[in-house]
Amino acid sequence: MDSTASPDAGIRIESFLGEGEERSLAQDALDGLTRSFKELPPKHFYDSRGAELFERICELPEYYPTRAERSILDEFATELVELTGAEELVELGAGAATKTRVLLDALHATGAPVRYVPMDVTESMVRECASELTRVYPGLQVHGVIGDFERHLEYLPRSHGKRLVVFLGGTIGNFAPKPRRAFLAKIAELLAPGDHLLMGVDLVKDPDVLRAAYDDAQGVTAEFNRNLLHVLNRELNANFEPSDFEHVAMFDPEREWIEMRLRSRRAHTVTVEALGLGVHFGAGEEMRTEISAKFTPKRLQDDLAVSGLDLVRWLTDPENRFALTLSRRSGA
Ligand code: AVJ
Repeated sequence: MDSTASPDAGIRIESFLGEGEERSLAQDALDGLTRSFKELPPKHFYDSRGAELFERICELPEYYPTRAERSILDEFATELVELTGAEELVELGAGAATKTRVLLDALHATGAPVRYVPMDVTESMVRECASELTRVYPGLQVHGVIGDFERHLEYLPRSHGKRLVVFLGGTIGNFAPKPRRAFLAKIAELLAPGDHLLMGVDLVKDPDVLRAAYDDAQGVTAEFNRNLLHVLNRELNANFEPSDFEHVAMFDPEREWIEMRLRSRRAHTVTVEALGLGVHFGAGEEMRTEISAKFTPKRLQDDLAVSGLDLVRWLTDPENRFALTLSRRSGA
């Protein structure tokens, strides 16, 4: 672990990332590219270019989740702050913390001292948002944690008063059902009596609306999807030709999730030098790069229940496209 007590008042940053990062990509690639149905996990989209493309996705007319979640936060932030009495915000996958500011505004307005604990894999995001937020909110304590919430949750600092864990954007949808429940159970362990989890989930809706959100007219999502191939080329010395792959977004109505795939336009073999691997793609063969689960209230409640969480509030936007859920540990 590498810890820096920053000269800036109120900021402390810890990093739990190391060599392991390349290993995690190499392992995921070795595992995912040698299966009969090839698959890579979506977390590897987000190098600096991928993070930028994602920011652009959030502004696309077709990609409603960001705006819908933001509108719910705008409407209910004050109420959420009153309801939870939060003295500490722990944000998983904080990114640029744009939407979080709505909560920080409401917290700041109460005048009580607050600590913000952003956790993100992108070091620059954690550092920049720490200095920016302490500037905007004088007196705010920021304890940034550079780490992967799938692997480093146990390294979060001990709580400082009533805790609100925040997991926005619908990122929980990236987990398959079983790991999703396991992850929620790990989040539950971060909560003491009186603590809460605020989580955003995208909702089941008209498949055309869903598909358009993941296959926009400008092709930004297609570029984002193919960015994974650029990451593999750079990090693992692979020779993917991104234009050989077509962006595919489909809604699986049974499992109620969006799948993004990359479809090989022709039969060809790619070399992944760092793994000593030749990977054959048939013409039209598809590789899965992301699932993004969509929820019904029932499904979410079931997931929470088996994970040891009770739903306290279910807040939606006026068009019922997205939900912000507030829950606490069962029995707490
Ligand atoms: C960041 C996981 C919430 O699933 O909607 C956006 C990622 N992928 N467009 C989502 C994403 C394609 C996004 N999450």
